[in-house]
Amino acid sequence: MKTKNLENYWMPFTANRQFKASPRLVKSADGMYFTLTDGRKLLDGIAGLWCCNAGHNRPRIVEAIRKQAGELDYSPAFQMGHEKQFELAERLTKLMPGDLNKVFYTNSGSESVETALKMAIAYHRTRGEGQRIRLIGREKGYHGVNFGGMSVGGMPANRKMFGALVTGVDHMRHTHNIEGNAFSKGQPQNGAEYAEDLIRMVELHDASTIAAVIVEPLAGSAGVILPPKGYLERLRQICDEHGILLIFDEVITGFGRLGAPFAVNYFGVQPDIVTTAKGLSNGVIPMGAVFASDKIYDTFMTGPDNAIEFFHGYTFSGNPMACACALGTLDTYEEEGLLTRGAELSDYWQDKVHSLRDLEHVIDLRNLGLIAGIELRPREAAPTARAFEAFLQAYDAGLLIRTTGDTIALSPPLIIEKEQIDFAFDTLRGIITNLD
Ligand SMILES: Cc1ncc(COP(=O)(O)O)c(C=O)c1O
Repeated sequence: MKTKNLENYWMPFTANRQFKASPRLVKSADGMYFTLTDGRKLLDGIAGLWCCNAGHNRPRIVEAIRKQAGELDYSPAFQMGHEKQFELAERLTKLMPGDLNKVFYTNSGSESVETALKMAIAYHRTRGEGQRIRLIGREKGYHGVNFGGMSVGGMPANRKMFGALVTGVDHMRHTHNIEGNAFSKGQPQNGAEYAEDLIRMVELHDASTIAAVIVEPLAGSAGVILPPKGYLERLRQICDEHGILLIFDEVITGFGRLGAPFAVNYFGVQPDIVTTAKGLSNGVIPMGAVFASDKIYDTFMTGPDNAIEFFHGYTFSGNPMACACALGTLDTYEEEGLLTRGAELSDYWQDKVHSLRDLEHVIDLRNLGLIAGIELRPREAAPTARAFEAFLQAYDAGLLIRTTGDTIALSPPLIIEKEQIDFAFDTLRGIITNLD
């Protein structure tokens, strides 16, 4: 390593002092593996951060970026365009079902969420219902770290330090229910009635004040929480009855994670807006995209032709490098059938997940597509400690996992092979068995 000085970089969502005392430094990555600075290999059990869905160092993507850098490095995002923005939008909307035919580019999941929330409020105002300003989120929701996303989000640690947040926001209850649903395979049976919380919001605030409800179709960051059967369908119904827009935050479920291109395909529930990022560019160059329905877009397209219809955007919206990277990513997904590979592997994956059921510390196992949640009983007076120890031991054993609270999450690249799945679960079995 060239520099031994770790002091100047303030690391995000990291225990800085602990990390700097005992750093975990990555040097390179290829396929399913990271190589660390000490030369050890680490199986990537979480696709980077749920983003490298095609694995690492993929030739189509590397080549696309190389070529683009020498051809068009940047093009102004406002009042100018370049061809790849349009080509990418067309290809993306072909993957997305229904009328979600318009794509707005951002640079991250957090920016996609801010964009979606602003779009929803501005949509209602444009169509003459400017009083619809309220946003409804859900407890345990994660929608990034900017003010809008943090406000509709429901993770206490992410909110409590940051003041009064955005006003006019309310939350439905979360659907996590170990007592009713522990060890469910796929979607749990119990809990569709939690969707009725939206009715309570309507009764409390009046539908005429509510612009949109935002949910993760499957919540990842709060510890892999699956939607109960019928829940998303019921949310859609209530939104329809009350003129409320339904936003799916697909930042982690998008691009094959569930075994279908999007959760919209998988669950067969059609939202009005979908937020994406991460797998869109395989995590290689920052990029996000918000899909909006034709109806929403058309509503904005009024007034004089020379008027800007939506006063929103980023310097790097549709950046040429990011677009090239995303096109190389889509090529890779399509050539290798990765957007549906999760469906082929999901039975094998499910069996492996639930093979951990006999372990003493395991209180719940959850799975869908190529996602697993392994919830451990928290240590008395030391919540999260047991799972974090599992993380450190897995790292030493050559496996990268992620933990939230006392839940271990797995979400590997979609190129994973069965032997690598075996390695991940054998390793975890050994570690969890021997944890205090
Ligand atoms: C559902 C969801 N929304 C938004 C985000 C924020 O994305 P980013 O970290 O790219 O801003 C994440 C990140 O994990 C996420 O899981």
